[in-house]
Amino acid sequence: MKEYIQNLLTGIVSSLKNENILSADTQIRIMVENTKDKAHGDFASNIAMMLARPMKKNPREIAELLISRIPANDKISRVEIAGPGFINFFANKAFIENQVNDMLKDPLLGVRPLRTPETVVIDYSSPNVAKEMAVHHIRSTVIGDAVVRILEFLGNRVIRANHIGDWGTQFGMLIACLEKKEEEHASSLELSDLEAFYREAKKYYDEDPQFAEKARKYVVKLQSGDEYCREMWQKLVKITMDQNQEIYRRLNISLTEKDVMGESLYNPMLKPLVDDLISRNLAKEDQGAIVVYLDNFKDKDGNPRGVIVRKSDGGFLYTTTDIACTKYRVEHFGANRIIVFADSRQHEHLLMAWDIAKMAGYLPENVLTEHGSFGMMLGKDGKPFKTRSGGTVKLKEFLDEAENRAATLMSDRNNNLSPEEKSKVIHTVAMGAVKYADLSKNRTTDYIFDWDNMLTFDGNTAPYLQYAYSRVQSIFRKTDAIPGKISISAPEEEDLLLKFTKFNEVVNSAAEKAMPHLLCTYLYELAGLFMKFYESCPITKQEVPDNIKTSRLAISECTAKILKTGLGLLGIETLERM
Ligand code: ARG
Repeated sequence: MKEYIQNLLTGIVSSLKNENILSADTQIRIMVENTKDKAHGDFASNIAMMLARPMKKNPREIAELLISRIPANDKISRVEIAGPGFINFFANKAFIENQVNDMLKDPLLGVRPLRTPETVVIDYSSPNVAKEMAVHHIRSTVIGDAVVRILEFLGNRVIRANHIGDWGTQFGMLIACLEKKEEEHASSLELSDLEAFYREAKKYYDEDPQFAEKARKYVVKLQSGDEYCREMWQKLVKITMDQNQEIYRRLNISLTEKDVMGESLYNPMLKPLVDDLISRNLAKEDQGAIVVYLDNFKDKDGNPRGVIVRKSDGGFLYTTTDIACTKYRVEHFGANRIIVFADSRQHEHLLMAWDIAKMAGYLPENVLTEHGSFGMMLGKDGKPFKTRSGGTVKLKEFLDEAENRAATLMSDRNNNLSPEEKSKVIHTVAMGAVKYADLSKNRTTDYIFDWDNMLTFDGNTAPYLQYAYSRVQSIFRKTDAIPGKISISAPEEEDLLLKFTKFNEVVNSAAEKAMPHLLCTYLYELAGLFMKFYESCPITKQEVPDNIKTSRLAISECTAKILKTGLGLLGIETLERM
């Protein structure tokens, strides 16, 4: 509908140009907004104001001219001029009804991709090996996975890339420590405490010169492909990723073992890459190191910034890996779009790696690279979210706490569920709440994490949406009637239907901007409109005429479908009863 109005106005503007009423070189952005207040119609445009200067006319006069040129159509019922010259459009009820009746028959609920499907590489989660996932990893993991689902829903080929930190000099000491532990016949349980394991390795490395010597030898051996060291390294990767996979399973994250494309994958590509940069004069030697100078980034004296791609000791850096990784994603997968979900502090690093990749021709202009940047998760005190004693919160323990709190939240509900059903409900509510708390905020800024605001049925939370869904399901349990054709019989219905028709637009813009919170806001507003409808429009009561009853059932059904699909795109499950 919005698109229709947009196209309509675009057509009118070009006809004005053809007739020389408007100068042909006028550039304006035609904007159509969803109105907040029904009194201003369903959609509004400020185009008449935008044209006031180029046409040297009063906006209201222009608005009248534009309106006179709108052809007869079945989509707009009425157009009004408001205030200084806004044009307000009222949607035609019958058109909306038809659109929603069609949506109900469509498994994609009317969602159509605006862009041609592409190959999109999504780099997300990306924890580090021999470390336990900490609570801050939840952001990349949860937001990345939602964007994966949304883009796949729109027909794109999505490559999930779990860019784990599985390479680097720390592996020398980790292998030496693993060896020591194996000699001591340490149990697998002992090894599974990665934090303790890492601390222990570091301690030996710092305090025992013989151990340190061995660790340094193992780094070199590992890098030259020594079989024993590689095997030991693989064990470390496996212990870590088995634990992480368990977290993914709990959180309903779609990453599998097959999606691991860690830093080590690119290691063999680094030497040829740097050699290539040198031979093409893109990188120069500076005090033994190899440096690329970037015109697009200036240092504090205004000179091109230098980025080291190889240290004087021959070692490569995080940036070198990201250049190789970008090249690989273009060449190997044919990526049209690459999105890296990493925290905002990595912004400059990523831009520089991509700049170098562009310079070298590894990254063609038409491939979009985006940093899916996100802010930090803060505690109520506004400081980074920590345990009471100031340590990092382990993701596993954080999820345990979510389940405990969800159990408390659900404990006073009298719902006649079996113990198995109850524990399923608790799990689903807990994971939904945790994910939604992260997804519903604009990802670019820091946010304050507060258990009390997310594990509640009030406000913009997963439990609220899950509850709205199960409430619709309860309507269907109360009646034998089946949904029929929708026809609007109350203003609350009209508002809700209009909202249904915007699902397509919101899914597309969440995909375009890689911003799942847009979808969250939409679902929250949808659920709010449903609750209003539910309060003022009886459905199953005896006195409701059959045609209205079946229409209202179809409206309820459409709400449920959008909630389920929308939450599904966010990686959040719904419940039939709760
Ligand atoms: N492993 C990194 C971290 O924990 C994130 C990796 C992001 N992806 C990338 N291609 N650099 O911060």
